[in-house]
Amino acid sequence: MCGIVGYVGDKQAVGFLLEGLSKLEYRGYDSAGIAVYDGASIRVEKSVGRLASLEEKIEGNMPKGSLGIGHTRWATHGRPSDRNAHPHTDCTGDFVVVHNGIIENYLALKEELIEQGHSFKSETDTEVVAHLLEEVYHGDFEAAVREVLRRVEGSYSLVFMSRQQPDCLICTKKDNPLIIGLGDGENFIASDIPAIIQRTRRTFILNDGEVAVVRKDSIAITNRLGEPVTKKVFEVNWNAEAAEKGGYEHFMLKEINEQPKAVRDTMSQRISKDGNSVLMEELKWTKEYLNSFNKVYIVACGTAYHAGLVGKFYIEKLARIIVEVDVASEFRYRNPIVDENTLLIVVSQSGETSDTLAALKESRRLGAKTLAITNVVGSSIAREADQVLYTWAGPEIAVASTKAYTTQLILFFMLALYMAEIKESQTRERIGQLIGMLKNIPAQISETLSDVEPIKTFARKYGFNEDVFYIGRSLDYDVALEGSLKLKEISYIHAEAYAAGELKHGTLALIVEGVPVIALATQKSVYEKTLSNIKEVKARDAVVIGIAAEGDDELQKYVDHVIKVPETDELLIPLLTVVPLQLLAYYAAITRGCDVDKPRNLAKSVTVE
Ligand code: AGP
Repeated sequence: MCGIVGYVGDKQAVGFLLEGLSKLEYRGYDSAGIAVYDGASIRVEKSVGRLASLEEKIEGNMPKGSLGIGHTRWATHGRPSDRNAHPHTDCTGDFVVVHNGIIENYLALKEELIEQGHSFKSETDTEVVAHLLEEVYHGDFEAAVREVLRRVEGSYSLVFMSRQQPDCLICTKKDNPLIIGLGDGENFIASDIPAIIQRTRRTFILNDGEVAVVRKDSIAITNRLGEPVTKKVFEVNWNAEAAEKGGYEHFMLKEINEQPKAVRDTMSQRISKDGNSVLMEELKWTKEYLNSFNKVYIVACGTAYHAGLVGKFYIEKLARIIVEVDVASEFRYRNPIVDENTLLIVVSQSGETSDTLAALKESRRLGAKTLAITNVVGSSIAREADQVLYTWAGPEIAVASTKAYTTQLILFFMLALYMAEIKESQTRERIGQLIGMLKNIPAQISETLSDVEPIKTFARKYGFNEDVFYIGRSLDYDVALEGSLKLKEISYIHAEAYAAGELKHGTLALIVEGVPVIALATQKSVYEKTLSNIKEVKARDAVVIGIAAEGDDELQKYVDHVIKVPETDELLIPLLTVVPLQLLAYYAAITRGCDVDKPRNLAKSVTVE
C-alpha cells in the first residue's frame, strides 16, 4: 500500500508533489520518489526512508517543470531501497509510472519482456508496467495505456507519464483508491483527499476500470470500453485543518480528542426529533426484510473487527438476532455458509482493506445482502456494498485507529436499536431511554478526556514494562482486546487481552510480581466474577489498574489504582472505557520515544493481503 500523486498545470510540479506526498505518508513511508518533465526529459529522484530523505537529496537542486508524479511506498515486492522506490521507468526513460497495489502476473510479464530485450533495474512488480508501456507504445499514449491494462492482472491505482506526450498524465484504478482534484488551470491526482485539500475541494472519484487523461485545463474520463464517462463533482466538506494536526503533537492525540465531535456527528442526523427513534434513511428496512435473514455476519479486520464484536453484542442483546463475527482474512478462505438469506455487515474505516473488500465481494457473489459501515465516502467498500452507513468521523490519519472505533460503535448501537424497533424486540420506553443516554455520550467522552494526568503518570510508571495484560468479561473483554491492540501497535509493549474467566486456563502462569494488569469491571451481571479474577491476579502480586464506572466504590479496595469513567448504561460504557485505554497506549508510546503516528511495520490502510 502506497500513496501516489500527480500534477499537471502551470506551476512547478515539485511543490504539490512534495506537499501531497507528505499528507499521504500514512499510507506508506519506507521510500519516496518523484518524476518531473523538464521540457526535454523526465528527471526521476528517489530515496529510501521517509519523504524527508528525498527532500534533503533534492534540496538546492529541485526538478523543474510543471508535469510530474510522486510516490510514497510501503514495500510489498522488493525490500525498501532507492532502486525499488517509485517512480519506475522503462529502458528509454520516456515512460514513467507510479503504482499502488500488486501486479499479480508480473513474473510472467517480466520474463516475456526480458526475452524481448528489456532490462530491469528493480525487484518490484511495478516496473513491468513501465516496460510493457514502452513495448506496446506505437505513437498513441492512451491506446498504449489501455493495452497495458488489458495485460496486467491484480489490483492497482496507476499514474502514467510520458516524454512522448508531455501535456498530460493518464491515470486509472482497480481495487485501490484514486481521486482527481479539479483546479483552475491545473489538476491534481492523489490516492486520498488530504493530499489535495489545500489546493482544491472539488474532486472526481475514479471508479474501477475508468481511465482519465488529465491535462491542465481538461479531464477526459472513459470507461473500460473507451466510452466517455460523465462524472459528478464530489465536493469535499472537510476543511484543510481537518486533515492537519490542529496543534496536537500527533494525529493520534488529535483524533482521540476529536471523539466527542466525531460521535456527535455520527449520531446527530440519525435521531428523530422527539428523541425516541433511530432514523436510518440509508436503509429503510422492514420487518419482512429483517425476517428474511437467517444469518448475520460481521466481518472486518483489526480495530474494526473489535468494533464488530461489540456490534454483535448490541444486535443480539437488543434485536435478538444471532450474529457471527469473523476477521476478514479468515472468513474469506473458510468457505462460509453464505446465501441470499445472509446479511453481511463489513466494517472498515478506510473502506479499502483488501481482505474485507474480498469478503464483501465473495459474499455478494453468493447472494448475500451487504451493508458497509465505513468512514471514507466513495471508498471501494462503500461502492461495492448494497447499502452503506457512513461514520462521518472525518479523516483519520494516525495508523492507530481511535475515532473510527468509537463512531463504529455508535453506528452499531443505533443499528441494533433500529432493528429492535422494527422487530419490536424492545419496548418504546427502553429505546427512548437508551437514545437519551446515547445523546449524553459526547459530553461524557469529553469528561473522560479531561482527566488525563493520572493516565500520563501510569504511562510513565509502567511504560517500560515488557508485558501488560488486559482482562474483562462480556463487553469489557471486547474493549480489553481493543486496548491491548492499541498498546502493542504504537508502544511495541507485548500486550494481551484475556476474557477474565479464561485466565486460570493457562495465562495465569504468566502473572508474576509487578506485571501490570488492566482490569475492566463495568458489567454488572459479571461484576462479582470479575472481582474474583482480579483477586486471583492480585494474589500473584500483579499491579492492577482497574477501570470502573463512577459510583463504583468497591473496585478500589482490590486494585492498586482506579480510573473512573462517567456512569451510563452498561451497553454504552465501552464508548467511555476505551478512551483511557487509547490515552494509556498513546502516553506509553511517548514515554518509550516511539513514532506514534507511524509505528514500525504498519500502515494505515492495508490494501494488500
Ligand atoms: C487499528 O489501530 C489498526 N491500525 C488496524 O487494526 C485497522 O483497524 C485495520 O487495518 C482495519 O482497517 P480499516 O478499518 O480501514 O478496514
